[in-house]
Amino acid sequence: MTGVATGKGLEVRGLNKSFGGLVVARDISLRLAPGDRKALIGPNGAGKSTFTNLITGVLQPSSGTLTFDGRDIRPLSEAGRVKAGIARTFQITNLFKTMTVRDNLRLPILERLGRTARGFRRADRDAAVEAEVDALLTQFRLADMGGRVVSQLAYGQQRLVEMAMALALKPRVLILDEPAAGVPSSESPLIAEAIAALPQDLAVLIIEHDMNLVFKVANRIIVLVAGAILTEGTPAEISADPRVRDLYLGAHHG
Ligand SMILES: Nc1ncnc2c1ncn2[C@@H]1O[C@H](COP(=O)(O)OP(=O)(O)O)[C@@H](O)[C@H]1O
Ligand SMILES: [Mg+2]
Repeated sequence: MTGVATGKGLEVRGLNKSFGGLVVARDISLRLAPGDRKALIGPNGAGKSTFTNLITGVLQPSSGTLTFDGRDIRPLSEAGRVKAGIARTFQITNLFKTMTVRDNLRLPILERLGRTARGFRRADRDAAVEAEVDALLTQFRLADMGGRVVSQLAYGQQRLVEMAMALALKPRVLILDEPAAGVPSSESPLIAEAIAALPQDLAVLIIEHDMNLVFKVANRIIVLVAGAILTEGTPAEISADPRVRDLYLGAHHG
């Protein structure tokens, strides 16, 4: 069993991925432990979404190890990794827009409970499921929105619904891929508040371009450039790093 990680949480070691000749993950190692609030930043095309896809099982790494609480998760499918406790939201929203917010929120709860689509109508009247939907609506400040069709919501609120759906899976690791993408800056505080209100023991990795949001919610920042980790540090260390300023922050922080 040498080389198998035994630490708590998600551990990535020496991860590599290429598409043909293009290296999109280059010897990436990092760990996400309970309570972590880490951000992954880097220019467009750096490989941030690809990294998420490697962790969640959308893509298979060319080499490297992925363990969760010491268990090798590489053989697990996407669904298997969700069951194991790894959930994510997508850079582009993934909601059923013609359904109500309630109907969307019910789906991951039913999935978690292992109910089939046949149980769906009955679940309409399942008090425990409905109570859980209500709690999520309250937690994400969507209490008045449950009966609305998703497409009628402001975009920032749609991103909150998506975050609520991921949380409904009761994950232990949550990866948020650009939760503020496309969200007007007036609504971005809603996203920051929702992230701040996530369960404390959850391990959170947030991929984000909005540096104000990153500095508000993350206590560690990992900088990815051309598929490789350039550096990792506290927000203060990262914002003071001249390489990071040159590469990425310059455009945002003058
Ligand atoms: N399925 C794919 N096939 C080939 N190239 C891909 C694929 N997915 C992503 N890429 C390439 O990998 C690189 C990293 O992309 P991505 O992970 O989306 O970056 P980021 O999320 O940091 O903007 C880009 O050059 C992109 O064009
Ligand atoms: Mg991306």
